[in-house]
This record gives sequence, C-alpha cells and structure tokens, in this order.
Amino acid sequence: MENKEPLLEIKNLTIKFGKGKDSFMAVDDVSFNIYRGETFGLVGESGSGKSTIGRGIIGLNEITDGEIIFDGKLISGNRSKKLSREITRDIQMIFQDPMASLNERAKVDYIVSEGLYNLKNYSTEEERKKKVENALLDVGLLPEYASRFPHEFSGGQRQRIGIARALIMEPKFIIADEPISALDVSIRAQVLNLLLELQKKKGLTYLFIAHDLSIVRFIADRVGVIHRGKIVEIAETEELFKNPLHPYTRSLLSAIPIPNPVKGKNKVLKPYKIEDIENRRHMEFIELRPNHYVLVERDE
Ligand SMILES: Nc1ncnc2c1ncn2[C@@H]1O[C@H](COP(=O)(O)OP(=O)(O)O)[C@@H](O)[C@H]1O
Ligand SMILES: [Mg+2]
Repeated sequence: MENKEPLLEIKNLTIKFGKGKDSFMAVDDVSFNIYRGETFGLVGESGSGKSTIGRGIIGLNEITDGEIIFDGKLISGNRSKKLSREITRDIQMIFQDPMASLNERAKVDYIVSEGLYNLKNYSTEEERKKKVENALLDVGLLPEYASRFPHEFSGGQRQRIGIARALIMEPKFIIADEPISALDVSIRAQVLNLLLELQKKKGLTYLFIAHDLSIVRFIADRVGVIHRGKIVEIAETEELFKNPLHPYTRSLLSAIPIPNPVKGKNKVLKPYKIEDIENRRHMEFIELRPNHYVLVERDE
C-alpha cells in the first residue's frame, strides 16, 4: 500500500477489569495502526483480549491507559457530544453471533434503521426507507425483506442483516468481531467475499477479529497476533505466514488443519513455551524484518 495514512492509531492501550489486587489486565500495552482502506486482522485464542480492544475503540469498555486516535482525533477519554456522534456514525461493529445480536421481536426495517433513529440522521420517512432498501441491496438481500422478522432468515442472511445495519450509517471503519465464526462452513466464504466487495465499493477500513489464522490469511492485508492481552507479532499477511517469528504465532500456524489427511497425521505440533513471554517487563516490540514487528526479550 502506497502513501500509508493511519485511520486508527492505538497507542499503549491498556484495559483492566476489576480493582486493586484482583484486577485483571485484559489488554496490556497494545499499540498498532490501521491504515486507510486496509483490513487489519487481529488473531488470538479465545480470551486473549480481542473483543475488549474492539469494545475499547467504540467506547464500550473503559480504557485504563493509552490513547486511541481515529481520523486524526483523540477518541479515548472524554469525548464531546459532537465527537461521540461522529464516532457512533463512523465506526460500526459486526458481531459474531447473528442469532444473538438481532432483536427477535423487531422487523428488519427497524433493526437496520436503529442507528439512523439513534442519531436522527435522516429527514423524511421516505429517505429512511430508501436507505434501508439500499443497505439491503448492498448486502444482497431483497428490499421486501424489510417487513420480515429475523427468525425468517438463515444464519448467513442474518449476518447480512447485521452488515446492512452497519452499512446504513455510511461508516468509515468497521470492526468485524469474529463475523463468520458462528456460520456454517459452507457459507463463510460468501460472507467474507461480501465484506471484501463492500470494502472496495465503499472504501472501508476493517479491523477483522478472528481466532483462526486461516481466515485472516484470506481477508487481511496485515495481521496482529495477540496472546494474553499482548500483541506478540505484527506483519503483512503473506510475510507472517512465510516467516512467523514469534513462538506463539508458530504454534497458531501449526494448529491450522492441513486439508490433506495423510499430511495431517504426520503434522508435528511446535510446542510453545510459556516462559517465552511470561516476564513481560523485559519484552520489547522490535522490527526484526521490514514492516515485521515481534515482541522479543530485551537485552539488559
Ligand atoms: N466486562 C468484563 N469484566 C471482566 N472481565 C472481562 C470483561 N470482558 C472481558 N473480560 C475478560 O477479559 C479477557 C479477554 O476477553 P475478550 O476480549 O472477550 O477475549 P476474546 O475476544 O479474545 O475472546 C477474558 O479473560 C475475559 O473473561
Ligand atoms: Mg471475542
């Protein structure tokens, strides 16, 4: 990517839950940028802090330390009313479970319009209806689906409704938090392709969260690997797959199922030693190869 300009800058982000001795650091001094128009894949096992980062960006989780800059503006800490409105419009989230994230009792028309209602950013009922129609068409659904209820749709269609609900706001940035993990394997590629298509068409920037490296390989331009609240490696996608440097990344890579069953049988799992990153105070993030950053032990 030429002329890289960050849309999102995360600087030394720390998010703790609880107080005092019992506090738990879910996100630990995390820094990364997401450039305009790119997809940044954030990968790590369940509980590693991925959603907490996503929720921190949109202001759903309180930030303990660090800064978040979006589109040149500091959005962490106290936001003015005007800035809050901007963030609510410009940053949208797509969630993992389309069954749980849609209001069962509301019609698609209402579900997709919710952000518009909240911000009151339409002038006539006709304009709102038109926006719903366009959002549904954008995700490959028929406009007449607006009058139906979520239970009338398949998992893949419901995720499309979730995407329409984000798109209707005309966001700049979308946080997709494991958007295909709950879907049937057979329709995952369709939803990923839809996201890629929409990105091109609308110039969107994505933070794509996954627990599976094989998915981000398909969709991400760059990947950050997170382990226990700490980013251990960041690189361009192909570089990361060709030259994984951190033992944790290697362990994740060797966990990717190999399609050929014969090869799979002989696969050697690369063990990963917990001591490698246990002592966090002596770790530092350095550029070991061009644009390839790794958390390493610092020489004392
Ligand atoms: N609101 C919360 N209160 C306390 N602990 C939380 C809260 N949200 C998340 N956590 C904990 O923070 C860690 C990271 O969670 P999360 O960001 O959801 O992980 P991931 O999305 O990578 O699976 C987990 O141990 C989780 O239990
Ligand atoms: Mg999560």
